[in-house]
Amino acid sequence: METIYELGAEGRHGVTVPRPEDAERALSHVPEALRRRRRAKLPEVSQPELVRHYTSLSRLNHGVDTGFYPLGSCTMKHNPRFNEDAARLPGLTALHPALPDEETQGALSILWELAEHLKGVAGMPGITLQPAAGAHGELTGMLLMKRHFESIGEMERRTKVLLPDSAHGTNPASAAMVGLEVVSLPSNAHGTVDLEALAAALGEDVAGIMLTVPNTLGLFEPDILEITHRVHDVGGLCYFDGANLNAFVGRARPGDMGADIFHFNLHKTFSTPHGGGGPGAGPLAVSSVLEPYLPVPQIVKRNDSFALETDRPDSIGRVHPYHGNFLVSVRALAYILSLGDAGLREVSSGAVLAANYLRTKLESAYKLPYPGLCKHEFVLSGEGLGEVRTLDIAKRLMDYGIHPPTVYFPLIVKEALMIEPTETEPKEILDAFVEAMLRIADEARQQPELLKAAPHRTPVRRVDEAKAAREPILRRPPN
Ligand SMILES: Cc1ncc(COP(=O)(O)O)c(C=O)c1O
Repeated sequence: METIYELGAEGRHGVTVPRPEDAERALSHVPEALRRRRRAKLPEVSQPELVRHYTSLSRLNHGVDTGFYPLGSCTMKHNPRFNEDAARLPGLTALHPALPDEETQGALSILWELAEHLKGVAGMPGITLQPAAGAHGELTGMLLMKRHFESIGEMERRTKVLLPDSAHGTNPASAAMVGLEVVSLPSNAHGTVDLEALAAALGEDVAGIMLTVPNTLGLFEPDILEITHRVHDVGGLCYFDGANLNAFVGRARPGDMGADIFHFNLHKTFSTPHGGGGPGAGPLAVSSVLEPYLPVPQIVKRNDSFALETDRPDSIGRVHPYHGNFLVSVRALAYILSLGDAGLREVSSGAVLAANYLRTKLESAYKLPYPGLCKHEFVLSGEGLGEVRTLDIAKRLMDYGIHPPTVYFPLIVKEALMIEPTETEPKEILDAFVEAMLRIADEARQQPELLKAAPHRTPVRRVDEAKAAREPILRRPPN
């Protein structure tokens, strides 16, 4: 498809912006060195051309609004339009973040109220809304962990962070970014933390553990309390990665399981849109021992008004301008309030039910390396289907109008296919997915070539992903 630069004709435009009378005078104030030497090369298209171009582009894409999107570890659920309406209220969108507190009481009350709800969900007393994504929350959490050990004089010897080998890649990256050494814990035969390996790795050089709950196989750690007790016993802290909160929101609280730090992905569990690069939000809840180090400003309620507290000498400082991605917070609060406590509990039960429904329908046709009840997602393997690979299965799903699941992750499953249906899909869609997967399993045996060349019915056929990653062309060639 053409780019917009290849459309239109010289002098064509979509809207006519009147030139202000004093344009020349205003220009005379721009220093000579900063003036534009030649006309910017902008697309020159009429309004219908513009609208058609972007509408056509949007139709080439597959999104959660156009079809099923069972992307494991990503919780691609429906984004209720009520949240969008709330986030588009002019009083919120037109608000400048630098306005004084007295003039932003409404916005501060929204942030404060969201923070209170999230503290309740986590069962933890402290929070910051600043981090812009899950990985940013992890980094902030690691900075808090480090600051804690610095302030009690133990940072010199606490050099290690323990991480199960099923961890999401951002976890070790976040620990390494603050200079901690990552020690990988092998999973046991059930795909959960091996307590013997944990015991062998624990010592006074351990700053903490990072656990994804439930883990990236969709399995809840049956020994979670034992794990957190043991880490606390050696003076370490427990970080819980909350990207998978959809599995237990409203039913269990990380604070009750021994978490000291817990990040939310508002763009997953709390339904704010994601994909395509953001913006998201990764608020971080902490236990009382870490509260003094939280980023500033903290939003506090005094009598009936809200204020920004910056005088916190032990704080790690800011991790984001102002209060993070404000309109993402607005959407999340709208979602929480519209569902209520009972609704949030239904979210997790629906997500777990849908995942187990799919698991039981597919486990006879595909290998399931870690069998048994899962939480909100499960991981199949594409092994054993003749000469086709997981990538071929994923590409073929696109021909059936379904977004491929996450593939080749977690790393401990060969040829992994990680499936997360979420609670927002009706049974008919789940059944259509099952039918497509079963057909693909048959095709894999009878027509492997068909799968290897898939997709066949998409606007773009199979791309060379390694080349795209290694030699990206990020600019259109100059004309
Ligand atoms: C288990 C897990 N942890 C952390 C993250 C990082 O979250 P974000 O993409 O918001 O940075 C993800 C994202 O997919 C995840 O699945």
